[in-house]
Amino acid sequence: MRRPQWRVDPVRKVMSPAPPLTILGIETSCDETAAAVVRLTPRPDGQDVKILSCVIATQFDAHQPYGGVVPEIAARAHVEAVDLVIAQALKQAGVGFEALSGVAATAGPGLIGGVMVGLSAGKAIALARGIPLIAVNHLEGHALSVRLTEAAPYPYLLLLTSGGHCQLLSVEGPGHCRRLGTTIDDAAGEAFDKIAKALGLPYPGGPALERLAIGGDPKRYRLPKMLAGYNGCDFSFSGLKTAAARLVPSLTSDDDRRDLACAVQAAIARQLSERSTRAMELHRERYGMKGRLFAVAGGVAANQTIRDALKTVAHAHDFAFTAPPLKYCTDNAAMIALAGAERLALGQCDPLDVAARPRWPLDEATARSNPVHHSGRKGAKA
Ligand code: KG4
Ligand code: ZN
Repeated sequence: MRRPQWRVDPVRKVMSPAPPLTILGIETSCDETAAAVVRLTPRPDGQDVKILSCVIATQFDAHQPYGGVVPEIAARAHVEAVDLVIAQALKQAGVGFEALSGVAATAGPGLIGGVMVGLSAGKAIALARGIPLIAVNHLEGHALSVRLTEAAPYPYLLLLTSGGHCQLLSVEGPGHCRRLGTTIDDAAGEAFDKIAKALGLPYPGGPALERLAIGGDPKRYRLPKMLAGYNGCDFSFSGLKTAAARLVPSLTSDDDRRDLACAVQAAIARQLSERSTRAMELHRERYGMKGRLFAVAGGVAANQTIRDALKTVAHAHDFAFTAPPLKYCTDNAAMIALAGAERLALGQCDPLDVAARPRWPLDEATARSNPVHHSGRKGAKA
């Protein structure tokens, strides 16, 4: 068995395997079983990232009849798919297990049954092959996803907007994210999904609602402005969800449904833009000229109206704007592999008994000191 050769990184003064680092990533936190191989070459002035493969087995058909993700079904589907998806990722990358410098698996936050499946697969590979395991926070994967395809130097401002999360973060590096704002109720993707369901659209609702909204009139239906007059960075979408759902029974034509979908999309885009504007001010106060990059990631970042709105506010506030290609916005394992690779390059890895975590805030200090949810027995939510 080949063991990775560890050496002292002359730039960072840490022990890590010799570069380039070839990392297998595994992602199973929700309804996609995904594996990818990413090769990272750290350089003094940045890093070189190559995505050798990125395989995703979606569970779309299994959850579709229920109109949402059923955790038990998801966990079972991950068990059935994970080995095959890993084998495909290695094959497409043209590498065997012996070429891996490490294995990175999502260890939370997410649906715990699924997280355990992927993390166990990662542990088994690490043990059998004698390579390091990196337990990756799914949110850190999204936060670093912008670095899969472009330089995006730290620190940058990130809007992470997905089905389970809606946060504004200053990303300083792996393990160093500062939370500026989060949602006090639903995530933006959750709002998209629930309103889409009320409109009779199929799961997942976000893309379906975006398609329905094409050509609609965003001003015909007046929807409440959330947290009117509020000047912070936290989000709230539940009032919008209720207001839209109340209007649904009064809709009588396809035009009505299209205009309501368009109004909902515009309202979500407006709130994301307003909070991001405030976060840009706070981020600029802390980092000055150094951090003038605004990135958006997560499944909702696949929405073109939202991307356009965020780009406009970024440019209006002197920030460069970036968003990963659509396939790296939604859940994927390339972002997990990259987060693992960057951690391994810093000499970080995890013991084989590391626990899967249903909740795992990125900025634990802020989540504890300023909780927007009650933390419950399992600890602070993200
Ligand atoms: O990041 P992601 O794949 O999974 C989570 O970690 O949650 O995000 C999934 C979410 C779902 O709520 C889905 O409806 C939403 O992203 N989404 C979209 C679009 N594509 C995916 N929402 C609006 N417009 C889209 N085009
Ligand atoms: Zn995600």
